Amino acid sequence: MATIELRQVEKKFGDQYAVKPMDLTIHDGEFVVLLGPSGCGKTTTLRMISGLEAVTTGHILLNGRDVTWRHPSDRDIAFVFQFYALYPHITVRENIAFPLQAQHESNETIQKRLDEVVDLLKIRHLLTTRPGKLSGGDQQRVALARALVRRPAAFLMDEPLGALDADLRETMRAEIKRLHIAQHATTVYVTHDQIEAMAMGDRIVVMSAAEVQQVGAPAEVYYNPANLFVANFIGSPGMNLLKGRYADGAVHMKGAASTYPVSAAWRKPLAEALTGQEEVVMGFRPESGLLNPQGALAGEVYAVDMHGGYTLLHINTNESDIIHIRSDRQTTYPIGAQIRFDVDPQMVRFFNSKTAKAVRREVSA
Ligand SMILES: Nc1ncnc2c1ncn2[C@@H]1O[C@H](COP(=O)(O)OP(=O)(O)O)[C@@H](O)[C@H]1O
Ligand SMILES: [Mg+2]
Repeated sequence: MATIELRQVEKKFGDQYAVKPMDLTIHDGEFVVLLGPSGCGKTTTLRMISGLEAVTTGHILLNGRDVTWRHPSDRDIAFVFQFYALYPHITVRENIAFPLQAQHESNETIQKRLDEVVDLLKIRHLLTTRPGKLSGGDQQRVALARALVRRPAAFLMDEPLGALDADLRETMRAEIKRLHIAQHATTVYVTHDQIEAMAMGDRIVVMSAAEVQQVGAPAEVYYNPANLFVANFIGSPGMNLLKGRYADGAVHMKGAASTYPVSAAWRKPLAEALTGQEEVVMGFRPESGLLNPQGALAGEVYAVDMHGGYTLLHINTNESDIIHIRSDRQTTYPIGAQIRFDVDPQMVRFFNSKTAKAVRREVSA
């Protein structure tokens, strides 16, 4: 079992922050994804948890014990930090058994654990092969098996699928998630790919510029982003963000034809959050924009992408803001067509344009 706790953990290289003071509790058996663009501090965070990198200040607790200044091997938790490359000159079986032999396990134990992981990953037919003869996906499965066979209490994985091509990444991400469910080892998984994070995480820690932006379940960061960074970073394309002026219970966009009447539930929180200022950012996901000839909002078709199952319309709402609306697969318009649309009133979000923070609506009971 493994719980991991970060208390005000920070890391500076010289006077540059790699990780700003961070609080995070990872529960036993949880799959937590650290997500953010390159350079935001994900790897550094993972290395501090493992003990490979010393913290600048703060405390790290494993199963409630302060291990901040403990050596990696003395943290009372078996980690697998990464899937290391396979040894090319020995068979798959020998590769997988290697960590157990290194721990001087009995032949009986080795055989039992090997059988277990080999069945779990469906790689029995590969046991006598050498790694060089395997496809990329099979190599990754064998590397996973070699990690699992040690039965660590926690996995720390730093972009393990980064080198694989898109198809294989999708397959492997489903397999890692399935294995996690079967074995329930606490996992901290680093990626810059928000699709991977959404698909795999029980919770996602969204980071940017050395700072945690939001911690939440995938649906939470997707539907209720804490700020403009998260709104834009999560989703492909990200949340539509339209600047406007909030006055008389409506958001007035640049471009005369667009005035969005705000529902009663939003008026009080908006008035409180904006405290006198008029500028606001209205947000909605591409699937929450609804084409409607009588819609409150207007724009011009800028581009149309066919995706097979759906169509993505790029709409220019004024000179500068392009938004995206996801429509059914039959929808098509010529470039330059004028169209009107609405936003699903349940799915509209607002942000304070000065602080970049989300305005929160009271949840009615
Ligand atoms: N050993 C180091 N010395 C100096 N700067 C470092 C070192 N390791 C990382 N950094 C810096 O810390 C920041 C965070 O890096 P990193 O944790 O690797 O980001 P990520 O994994 O999110 O891409 C970056 O600006 C990086 O250049
Ligand atoms: Mg990294």
